[in-house]
Amino acid sequence: MKTFYVTTPIYYANSVPHLGHLYTMIVADTIARSKRQQGIETFFLTGTDEHGINIERAAQKNNRTPKEQADYVVSYFKQMTDAFALDTAHGGYDIFMRTTEPFHYEGVSELWRRISKATTPKGREALYKGHYEGWFCAPCAEFKTEDEYAKPENAGDPPTCLIHETKLDRVSEESYFFRLSDYDGALLGLYESRPDFVRPEARRNEVKSFVAGGLQDLSVSRLRSSVSWGVPVPGDADHTMYVWFEALTNYITAIGFGNHQQQQKIGFEKFWPALHLVGKDILRFHAVYWPAFLMAAGVEQPRAVVAHGMWVDPTGRKMSKTLGNTIELNVLNKFFRIDAIRYFCLREMVFGQDGRFGYENLIDRTNSDLASGLGNLSSRTLTMIHRYCDARIPPGTISDEGRLAAKRAGVEDEAAISDFITHARNEFVRHFDELAFSRALEEAWDIVARIDKMISDAKPWDLAKDAGQRQTLNAILYRAAETLRWLAVMLYPVMPTSAAEIYKQLGRADDVGKIDPRQLRWGELRAGSQIREVTALFPRIDKTKTMEEIKEQKSDVGEQTSAVSAPVQAQGSGQHATEAEAVPGVATYIEITDFAKIELRVGEVKTAERIPKADKLLLMTVDIGEEKPRQLLAGIAQFYQPDQLIGRKIVVVANLKPRKLRGYESQGMLLAAAVGEEGKPVIATFAEDVPNGARLK
Ligand code: MSP
Repeated sequence: MKTFYVTTPIYYANSVPHLGHLYTMIVADTIARSKRQQGIETFFLTGTDEHGINIERAAQKNNRTPKEQADYVVSYFKQMTDAFALDTAHGGYDIFMRTTEPFHYEGVSELWRRISKATTPKGREALYKGHYEGWFCAPCAEFKTEDEYAKPENAGDPPTCLIHETKLDRVSEESYFFRLSDYDGALLGLYESRPDFVRPEARRNEVKSFVAGGLQDLSVSRLRSSVSWGVPVPGDADHTMYVWFEALTNYITAIGFGNHQQQQKIGFEKFWPALHLVGKDILRFHAVYWPAFLMAAGVEQPRAVVAHGMWVDPTGRKMSKTLGNTIELNVLNKFFRIDAIRYFCLREMVFGQDGRFGYENLIDRTNSDLASGLGNLSSRTLTMIHRYCDARIPPGTISDEGRLAAKRAGVEDEAAISDFITHARNEFVRHFDELAFSRALEEAWDIVARIDKMISDAKPWDLAKDAGQRQTLNAILYRAAETLRWLAVMLYPVMPTSAAEIYKQLGRADDVGKIDPRQLRWGELRAGSQIREVTALFPRIDKTKTMEEIKEQKSDVGEQTSAVSAPVQAQGSGQHATEAEAVPGVATYIEITDFAKIELRVGEVKTAERIPKADKLLLMTVDIGEEKPRQLLAGIAQFYQPDQLIGRKIVVVANLKPRKLRGYESQGMLLAAAVGEEGKPVIATFAEDVPNGARLK
């Protein structure tokens, strides 16, 4: 049996999931579903990258052990995959790989051992011990060359990473090196002999010129005394493996390379080689370093490394919290159907290029392409079959005598429509196989438009009034219903729930997830079969109202209570969401009169308690010098015990519009600092005694 293996990057366990992560998973899930439809046994991997100095630091900042830090972030990733139906329970990924798994340690040690015995294409040992001196960026987990950092303003200060604008660490220590410099010829040969290895072509050219420019040996270990949170180097306990060396290897350890456990369960030979989906930001690691490691270890190369672009905001700016243009997963999850989000992601990003993502664009596309487009075609067709054909698929054939009437009404004849749809399907499949999802979806929507037009031109509702037009009416409705069947099969990988729903409403009992669109033949929808009840697939979204609600939600502390609502990190920098994404040169000042609008008052917490089923919210009463204490809700329950708060002096925004959360009214907001990658709240308070109700100015 044919098999297929698709992977997303494994995401750093130092920050919670964001749109970029969701996107790559949606693409991988779509590919996996399309393979499964073809009867190909498919394995889909995603997961987390849990070692390295950056995770160690995030853990320290949050008073956790690195493993606790990883567990914490993984729980958010799992919430995300559940909320967006990407996990195993929803037919999504097959493994959530974690690099802290013991079987991974085993497998990666095996790879190291193999490489340590290998010789390079130029006949030298592939691994050697040396001394490293250089600047290291912890968030990138990478040493930086001179053109990759900004020199400091004051001599003696460290330089800063151009991506993160954070200070680099000076590293001067013993290290194992991988002799990458000997692999340039072999890598260029690989790109030459397999033009599809790195995709799309523009990225392949970038990779080729990077390698042709000469490669430097790669430091692949750190001293345990400087980075202890990592996999020990076999036979040299003073060193831990470089996190990228070890993280890349997850793709093979997950399926059984170098370990018995996964080999038994999944099988390396069965699924390798994989198609790696990555953002363009991490292409070099996957298309240069990883193939070189595999060459050294004598392991077959991946099937392909496919790089997609990055999401930016609708005006083309990088997304950042400071600009307030990020897309939050909890907002997406609350206001949009999963299939609409999937459709938007795949339709809007031309694969390989950057894509623009804004809530308004998402609403517009949902309304035009889904509510008015596919959704409307489906509901009008099926409703008419209910109304005019007694809920049974009518026959589509037209007798010789009926042909003229049908033609006059604008009904296409069967051969023409079948040719058209077969051609569109072939193009759809071709683009899909090339991962050009946007082009594929355009093809599908050409079909929607053509059939929609046929219906609008022929006006079945008028034909239904004339018994002499019965055959024409039937023919139109048959064509529309049969087209819907094709669309459901074709669109299933992109919109699994909606496609299955259309399919079911058409009265089909088989599983649309198991039908290969290549096998579709016109006319297989059986006349006379009963259809089911019609329900709307994509209700129209009221743009003004929804945008207002989104704005309200974004500024609301209650936001922290929904499914995937840990503070979502800034996007767009590639991946490395840093705490403060300051935008150089953009200063947004407010007037003192603006500030005066905010009434900040000293309050004293009188009571505090947890709320059933809301694990993040505390319900408090706070005396702010008024007749009666105010009732306040705050999303701090995971960080403060109710008892700790009683008697504390806090700062309250007293004139914030009251809001109901979980059935309780919150009559203000307490102020807290958001600390660390997770935005852990630390309540603002006073060092000196202050009376309740005093105004802050
Ligand atoms: N841990 C490494 C990957 C190791 S793989 C062996 C890493 N992790 S990450 O958490 O930073 O995730 C990077 C990936 O997230 C990107 O390559 C991409 O897949 C996705 N995205 C991050 N930001 C993105 C956008 N703004 N837009 C689209 N995808 C982006 O790097």
